[in-house]
Amino acid sequence: MAGFFAAQASPNIAIIKYWGKRNDLLKLPMNDSVSVTLAGPFFTETKVELSGAGKDSMEINGRPADDRELLNVRLVLDFLRKKAGNTLKATISTRNSFPEGTGIASSASGYAALASASAAALGLELSPAELSVAARLGSGSACRSVIGGFVHWKMGIENDGSDSYAVQVAAPSHWDGFRIVTAITTSQPKKIGSTDGMKRTVETSSLYRQRLEALPGRTAKVLAAIMKKDAGLLFRLAMEESNNLHAVMMDSYPPLFYLDDVSRGIIASIHELNEAKGSFVAGYSFDAGPNAHVFTTERYCSEVEALLKAQGVGRVVVSKPGPGVEVLGSDSKIRNRP
Ligand code: PMV
Repeated sequence: MAGFFAAQASPNIAIIKYWGKRNDLLKLPMNDSVSVTLAGPFFTETKVELSGAGKDSMEINGRPADDRELLNVRLVLDFLRKKAGNTLKATISTRNSFPEGTGIASSASGYAALASASAAALGLELSPAELSVAARLGSGSACRSVIGGFVHWKMGIENDGSDSYAVQVAAPSHWDGFRIVTAITTSQPKKIGSTDGMKRTVETSSLYRQRLEALPGRTAKVLAAIMKKDAGLLFRLAMEESNNLHAVMMDSYPPLFYLDDVSRGIIASIHELNEAKGSFVAGYSFDAGPNAHVFTTERYCSEVEALLKAQGVGRVVVSKPGPGVEVLGSDSKIRNRP
């Protein structure tokens, strides 16, 4: 590719989860969510090159994007092209530092990097909020990966989604000892993707209404715990939130089961660890899959790692809070990097 712009972004792990849309196309959520953006080792690097002819195309780790991915890519591009006032077509190539099928979702880092690289290629200088809106059109959770550290995605109330974006609650340096330990328990892709899964929950779960009523209170407590660096409170709330999410998933019809026996073993072992310590030193969190994300602090990190390995988990990866999306520059700048 000649004349490209590149950007790099990392996944984020939600403490308060996004599960349910009020607008499917614009990815407007039913609730606020709170997350932490990872410092690595997982990241996505995306290159965008614009030209006057042809059509938008995208390659992900060397394979062509499927129809759903291309549709979401075009939503991001069209939003940005409208702002820039041009109709140039994009040739996109994106590469994850982790192979597809490791169970680590790449949509958040992918669309955050895409929005940022495309905006740079179009010559746009956008605010973090505008970039977050653009990334959200690709995948909801991507709006949070635009921002670094501890992040709050405000659901917004406008029908056009202009006030539904992520903001920083605290920079990565605010809580340097915070750790996210990811246990990769499976390499199988999830049977029901988050788009279809959340739609099913919104349409069929009666418990979901109670979840939505409880969330503003839990979200406020999570934000306060982050600001105070109250690890014990934050880890307990993260577990309550994960358990509530998986309860409404199971209450959907037909039920959604994302956890497996290894996940349940991890849940039990984290409760045992906290009981043994007499305080909440770690808290688990599960998304739409069986892989565990365990929040803990530097002090207990190796104990948590050992405990996950004892559960038969093959790959355990430790991350710290990290920066938001970063524009790496144009091809010439990248070639000249030291
Ligand atoms: O943006 P999506 O469609 O990949 O949604 C992902 C939602 C969860 O990961 C299940 C929860 C969250 O808030 O990240």
